[in-house]
Amino acid sequence: MKKLAILGSGNGSNFEAIAEYFSEKNVEITCLSNVKDAYILKRAEKAGIKHEFLPFKENFEYFKENKSDLIVLAGYMRILSEDVLNEMGKVINIHPSLLPAFKGSTNAILDAFLAGVKVSGVTVHWVTTDVDGGKIIAQYPVFITSDMHFDEFEQEIHSLEHRLYPIVIEKVLEDKVFEFSDLLSKGNCSKGCSGCKK
Ligand code: GRF
Repeated sequence: MKKLAILGSGNGSNFEAIAEYFSEKNVEITCLSNVKDAYILKRAEKAGIKHEFLPFKENFEYFKENKSDLIVLAGYMRILSEDVLNEMGKVINIHPSLLPAFKGSTNAILDAFLAGVKVSGVTVHWVTTDVDGGKIIAQYPVFITSDMHFDEFEQEIHSLEHRLYPIVIEKVLEDKVFEFSDLLSKGNCSKGCSGCKK
């Protein structure tokens, strides 16, 4: 059985989408948060998934003792140092823009919208000490039409994240390359985002 650790600091909607996707699969998930009362931990508790409050300064010791096949950041709001990353092993993150655009932004959805870009999207990338600067694993676009409200755009980005991230995680766990067609073939596409409206 593969071991997956998911780290978040807040809401945990990506965690929930990942947990649902893997619920019938041979993957053991642990949810970790550096914020004691984060909603992500409540979601894990509700779903019956192993979860733990992990203070930021205890990361090194924790990851030295607890190894996973893959560590997934999902709204983790701290920057991981090189020595901690070395202990963690393979670490990936999701960012709500087409990197390198809006790299390092903690408000990338709003920043993209206010900048007036016509195409934004979602990126899954390897985590390195360069924040949002690791090699890109997968990207998918969301088009911003002239009549689009921010709320609609934000919702499209989040719904794309929830469909894309689990599939990319599964591919990385299997050491396989993500292809756009995986979004459709995995039956995980609601055709709700403008990226795949046909
Ligand atoms: C997501 O938009 C993700 O791209 C960014 O942080 C947000 C986390 O949302 N890195 P949630 O906690 O998964 O709901």
